[in-house]
Amino acid sequence: RKRVAVLISGRGSNMASLIAASMDPSFPAEIVGVISNRSDARGLEVASKHSIATRAILPRDYDGREAHDEAIHAALCELKADIVCLAGYMRLLTPGFVQKWKGKMINIHPALLPNFRGLDTHARALAAGVRVHGCTVHFVTPEMDDGPIIAQAAVPVLIGDTEDALGERVLKTEHRLYPLALRLLAEGRVRMSSGAAVFSNVADENGELA
Ligand code: GAR
Repeated sequence: RKRVAVLISGRGSNMASLIAASMDPSFPAEIVGVISNRSDARGLEVASKHSIATRAILPRDYDGREAHDEAIHAALCELKADIVCLAGYMRLLTPGFVQKWKGKMINIHPALLPNFRGLDTHARALAAGVRVHGCTVHFVTPEMDDGPIIAQAAVPVLIGDTEDALGERVLKTEHRLYPLALRLLAEGRVRMSSGAAVFSNVADENGELA
């Protein structure tokens, strides 16, 4: 099984969905560590309860972004991570770090990229009046919420939706989509090549979710 480290900043519900998926011995990846840039990230406790190694690596303990990312990289190497999953990691990563994990680092974003990069995606979707919203798992590139798309799931925007109601609907879908995308990567059925996602032996796992 591939060794996966998860980077979080907060609640960690997507991290928990990856942990849950990896409890099935037939899942091709195991979660070997969880790293946060905040010591108060609630997800750290959740991971500890599952006896998963956790570390808070705080920016204020390092002199600049490069040094902080360097420390995260060292921790990932100690964990012998094959794959890094960003799960609500709310800090931009430096290009040098992204380069080191090229093709091995994926992120989940709560919108149908390339729409609504960045923050407040649900409020912005409502303001834009879109009738379909959703989430995306993509390879990480130096640009924020950019990079080749691995999987997406759509959810309807309902008349009278609030930001919270829409966000909850999307989050439920995130929890299904992220394990599916990690499976594709861990099984080598998707890889990044020349800035594109290249698939092999993929039927329509993504369509099943749409
Ligand atoms: C999730 O909705 C995730 O998609 C989003 O933060 C939330 C984290 O929740 N990520 C981003 O906005 C990244 N641009 P969680 O900590 O419960 O998984």
